[in-house]
Amino acid sequence: MNEKEPSKNKKINIITRHMEIDDLAKVFHLGEKLFTAEKVPTLYRTWDEYEVLTLYQGDSEFCLVAEEEEKEEIVGFTLGTTISKSHSAWKYGHLVWLGIDPDWQGQGIAKKLFDHFLDLMIEDGVRILLVDTESDNKKAINFFYKMGFKNPQDHVYLTLNLDNQRRQYREKEIYDH
Ligand SMILES: CC(C)(COP(=O)(O)OP(=O)(O)OC[C@H]1O[C@@H](n2cnc3c(N)ncnc32)[C@H](O)[C@@H]1OP(=O)(O)O)[C@@H](O)C(=O)NCCC(=O)NCCS
Repeated sequence: MNEKEPSKNKKINIITRHMEIDDLAKVFHLGEKLFTAEKVPTLYRTWDEYEVLTLYQGDSEFCLVAEEEEKEEIVGFTLGTTISKSHSAWKYGHLVWLGIDPDWQGQGIAKKLFDHFLDLMIEDGVRILLVDTESDNKKAINFFYKMGFKNPQDHVYLTLNLDNQRRQYREKEIYDH
């Protein structure tokens, strides 16, 4: 058995709490295990230290961790934000990242974190909550359905390689000088 894997017979106590400055590195490294470039290939959002820092600096009230009480080990996290649109009375919440250590998945920890996150969103006046993930991320999609999310929307990402334009731009700059 993996040293970190919880024993099936032992009662584990997981608490959820606000993320603190000392948790940043732990959350970042846990996310590195979960959100690799192969698993999350879209580039519009990538898991890196700036992502964690930016969300923590901007919306620390929506950054939560799940901690195993005895060893004080961080086993999961949520990072979120809220969006208020001009000319709209609706406030949106966005659960940007949710991750549970693979050794601790399947034990209701994401649900516990999500319930806490949901309470914070409701308290903050959010009326619609958004999540997104890769279309082949069945675990997460099942999880979100189970939490009550509906109406999945298709969204297509396109890319344009700008190498040619960049080359032309540089040539023009040299020519102009
Ligand atoms: C998705 C994820 C957060 C679920 O965490 P978890 O702690 O294992 O989830 P829970 O134990 O709280 O599961 C709650 C419900 O979600 C669904 N679910 C969770 N894992 C599942 C799986 N592997 N297969 C099918 N359904 C699953 C089930 O309906 C489950 O309820 P049940 O146990 O009563 O059947 C976790 O797998 C994870 O971190 N994945 C990698 C990161 C990721 O994809 N994040 C989401 C996008 S940002």
